[in-house]
Amino acid sequence: MLTTTESMTGQDLYDKLKKVNIKVGGSVCHYSLKKCEEFVPVINQINDIKKQKNAVILVHSYVSPEIIYGVGDYVGDSYALSKNALEVEADSIIFVAVRFMGETAKMLNPQKNVYITGSESGCTLADAINAEKVRELRKEYPDYTFVCYINTTAEVKAECDVCVTSGNVYHVVEKIPNDKIYFLPDKLMGINLAAEMKERGIKKDIKYFSGTCVVHEEYDREDIFRIQTEYPTVKIVSHPECKLSVCENSDYVGSTSQMIKYVRKTDADGFVILTECGLSERLQIEFPDKKIVGSCTLCKYMKSNTLENILRVLQQPTEQDRITIKESVRRRAAKCLNAMFQYSP
Ligand code: 13P
Ligand code: SF4
Repeated sequence: MLTTTESMTGQDLYDKLKKVNIKVGGSVCHYSLKKCEEFVPVINQINDIKKQKNAVILVHSYVSPEIIYGVGDYVGDSYALSKNALEVEADSIIFVAVRFMGETAKMLNPQKNVYITGSESGCTLADAINAEKVRELRKEYPDYTFVCYINTTAEVKAECDVCVTSGNVYHVVEKIPNDKIYFLPDKLMGINLAAEMKERGIKKDIKYFSGTCVVHEEYDREDIFRIQTEYPTVKIVSHPECKLSVCENSDYVGSTSQMIKYVRKTDADGFVILTECGLSERLQIEFPDKKIVGSCTLCKYMKSNTLENILRVLQQPTEQDRITIKESVRRRAAKCLNAMFQYSP
């Protein structure tokens, strides 16, 4: 659990965030003390209301650092946050990420109020497929086990057999006792999955859907070659939502939490992190002695979460902020999610 101080000062926040040094295009951006002083009154208000209302704030690593280090109670990847959602004792969960992650929390905590705080809480993967399409595919591939990435809506999960996250996809699919797998919605992760199963000598016939993540599909092998020419000794770290040619030329491929673990334990001249900018920012804050090189890409959905939105949702949530899932859908989607917990390491 992240520790949030009783009452934070601008200097406290600045001491944390001043290490963030992100290259955007040709210029470098950083937090100023003045900016941190502007954030702090809202941060302290959120932390007060959170306590009064017995609410807990779960944050994905891709959201802005003033949110993670100002008001977050738990920060992590989709898998860790879904486990946190299962374990938290609070009346309300405020999920600072995107809608499908809030839905996951609600599936596991039907009795709790779950709210999301982004003004644009979509995700190009979750929005790529709907339940009707899955039903059609199931008719077309009746012998296949339908495996969905956690980046899907509750309705889609309800139509699938087993859910996976970027951190456990290879392990879970390896364990599924069927060699016919239909993976959705991420085409690039599906291709990476098929390659990994082949590499492990596991015989699986893997079909996959056509969705992509707008952030990770941007990277190309040529980007890696360019980085390697400029910084020949750095380690390249990528996410399994990237292209196969990117993953094959990376030193490490993993979920956002696995990337953090890799950076923590690896001695290197520097790291290039091919994922959303929030993770590079976290790494710079948490490992000030490691060199995080190069640029990153923004997810506009994750970045639509702001301190102001969080405060408003805590004070006066609207029906749009609240996650509701039809009980019949929730029960079936939770079954798909629980199958993941059973197969997970
Ligand atoms: P992680 O589960 O690795 O945090 O990934 C979630 C996501 O949306 C990646 O784009
Ligand atoms: Fe979705 Fe990609 Fe944003 Fe992750 S980074 S939430 S997969 S659009």
